[in-house]
Amino acid sequence: MKKTILCIGAGYVGGPTMAVMADNCPDYKVIVVDMNEERINAWNSDELPIYEPGLDEVVKRARNRNLFFSTDIIAGIKEASIIFVSVNTPTKTFGAGAGKAADLQFWEKTARDIIEHSKHDKIVVEKSTLPVRTAEAMRRILQSNTKNLNFDIISNPEFMAEGTAVTDLQTPDRVLIGALETVSGQKAMQRIKDIYLHWVPEEKIKTTNLWSSELSKLVSNAMLAQRISSVNSISALCEKTDANILEVSAAMGMDSRIGAKFLRAGIGFGGSCFKKDILNLVYLCEFYGLPEVAAYWEQVVKINEYQATRFVSKILNNMFNSVASKKIAIFGFAFKADTGDTRESPAITVSKMLLEERATLAIHDPEALKNAKLDLADETGDISYHCDPYKAAKGAHAIVVLTDWKQFQGYDYERIFKSMEKPAFIFDGRNILDHKKLFKLGFNVFPLGQREYSHLTEIEK
Ligand SMILES: NC(=O)c1ccc[n+]([C@@H]2O[C@H](COP(=O)([O-])OP(=O)(O)OC[C@H]3O[C@@H](n4cnc5c(N)ncnc54)[C@H](O)[C@@H]3O)[C@@H](O)[C@H]2O)c1
Repeated sequence: MKKTILCIGAGYVGGPTMAVMADNCPDYKVIVVDMNEERINAWNSDELPIYEPGLDEVVKRARNRNLFFSTDIIAGIKEASIIFVSVNTPTKTFGAGAGKAADLQFWEKTARDIIEHSKHDKIVVEKSTLPVRTAEAMRRILQSNTKNLNFDIISNPEFMAEGTAVTDLQTPDRVLIGALETVSGQKAMQRIKDIYLHWVPEEKIKTTNLWSSELSKLVSNAMLAQRISSVNSISALCEKTDANILEVSAAMGMDSRIGAKFLRAGIGFGGSCFKKDILNLVYLCEFYGLPEVAAYWEQVVKINEYQATRFVSKILNNMFNSVASKKIAIFGFAFKADTGDTRESPAITVSKMLLEERATLAIHDPEALKNAKLDLADETGDISYHCDPYKAAKGAHAIVVLTDWKQFQGYDYERIFKSMEKPAFIFDGRNILDHKKLFKLGFNVFPLGQREYSHLTEIEK
């Protein structure tokens, strides 16, 4: 094989990204390493550590051909000439910048491992999402080596979305590659571009300077999250004015300047990235003396939190101000459909608030039950977990839809209604069910940003 590529970090990004790369580049050997042995064992098994549509096939095609998963980080560093770093960059929880700045300790440790074990020059590629100008700090750390080795730093942020990772990686909207404007930087950039050219059309590969590339990723996530918070804020106004958020979104989205995507109201965004990346942007703006810009972006996160709280208030208000000892079936715990990932899922916030109100929770999700159990492990209260939606809903007072899994639309709600306590409620936090049909079956239905369908009289409510 032509060259060895190493990826440090075998998570939601490192695993799928490198699997697709190896699949498309049979002339490269791709090694993915992680310090988490359990994760690596899972990547080498029939049950991959993450659920992504289409991922199994890609991994099976390339694994042990030119794709290898290992815990031997040192051997990987020694062998590879190109190292992608895809370790986690969570929000800092301590010291300066706590609650906003990115915690770069995993990144820095990786840089130090690379210095210690490298025997020849390397290209180090930032795959993780990092604050703008991180590459400068990394360059300084890497160039501090006393072995006279050269390290070129490239920024190549990942834009794939969980749930559609394989399609996004196979046919990306764009691949962004940033490099220093030096001869060596430009050469390194070309070598990374050559990899992507195996399957990505050249016009989709955008090259920029290092800082634009780093900042573009943060800002792309902030803009996406901002659209969600914008539409969610309007869903609150719709409920007060009898406007319908679906109609408002559709009308707005027909404007080609606005576009139709990312205008669906719901209980808010989750996932490991949006919140941390916006807070990181807020921190950067504060750091560079731009408090007005920081305040603008911080509001996106505040509206997201408001939307989840507002949704729980809606549940309480409509269930006679008490859910104590009432069974509530939670449909969906993953932060979005087609993933088992629950990091920052609004389902965690909503579940915890309902448990505080002493509700009994029966949680159903097609892929996320294992993570849901971990997320709620410290909660006291009555919680059960169900693969079967009918068991979750049996004897429940309410169903609360928190993830937009398509299969929720196909359940037999007549059967579900019959098995529930009456009056039976559905709170559709993702606006995915057929509300009129459910109402006809006897449910009291409460969507977001749309009129409610209630059999209860005003006095009963
Ligand atoms: N999840 C997404 O959808 C997504 C999309 C685009 C970008 N990103 C960014 O990509 C980065 C990784 O995200 P993720 O979701 O894959 O995180 P993750 O937590 O799933 O994976 C990170 C992995 O890195 C490993 N790791 C950490 N330090 C290490 C070290 N020193 N040596 C070896 N392994 C180490 C961890 O054990 C973990 O398995 C983050 O910066 C994130 O913001 C994520």
